[in-house]
Amino acid sequence: MFKGVLFDLDGVITDTAEYHFLAWKKLADDLGISIDRAFNEKLKGVSREDSLTLILEHGNKAGEISSEKFAELAKVKNDNYVEMIQAISPKDIYPGILELLEELKAADIKIALASASKNGPLLLDKMEISHFFDAIVDPGSVAAGKPAPDIFVAAAEAVNVSIKEAVGIEDSQAGITAIKASGSLPVGVGSPKDLGDDIAIVPDTSKLSLAYLETVWNSK
Ligand code: BG6
Ligand code: MG
Repeated sequence: MFKGVLFDLDGVITDTAEYHFLAWKKLADDLGISIDRAFNEKLKGVSREDSLTLILEHGNKAGEISSEKFAELAKVKNDNYVEMIQAISPKDIYPGILELLEELKAADIKIALASASKNGPLLLDKMEISHFFDAIVDPGSVAAGKPAPDIFVAAAEAVNVSIKEAVGIEDSQAGITAIKASGSLPVGVGSPKDLGDDIAIVPDTSKLSLAYLETVWNSK
């Protein structure tokens, strides 16, 4: 049986993937770059800086932005995003997540956060679920962001679980690629159209439970 669960945050624990999209969309609009939800699938799970690079490349503006301007744009997006998440509270935890965290704790299964977001600890605090997490990986501490496996490998290490004995839960293409590359077992939240038809996927988090993860694990 698996010994650890490595959680993504945005779009898995709560609806902040939507706030990231809205904040990027506002920044892109202000720059005269049009981004839609299909393009946003490529941004999910991707670090702040890598997301901005993808948006600028999409708008053919990567060459005309100085490093100072780049840093300023990243800060504008984050300031806007941080304002949006101020009101997040325990009632914003996605359905089934609190129950899953409780079940994992009761079963003595390690819980780690493998989010690319530097706002992860703040969000866990706002939702009052920080105490469930045995480790929170600082995304700034890993060499390469998702889709590289580094953050999932670091999360498993942080809770002393072999990566092969861990399940990773993700809503993003980059995150699923990272989990697969890490050697842990991917569980997707979303649709096979976005995440692929070769992994276990739930349409929403209310379908996640310890029993569900055990079924996926036993049928791999
Ligand atoms: C990921 C999100 O979890 O975190 C991305 O899916 C986001 O959309 C990334 O860009 C970095 O987040 P932050 O809060 O550090 O800008
Ligand atoms: Mg996510």
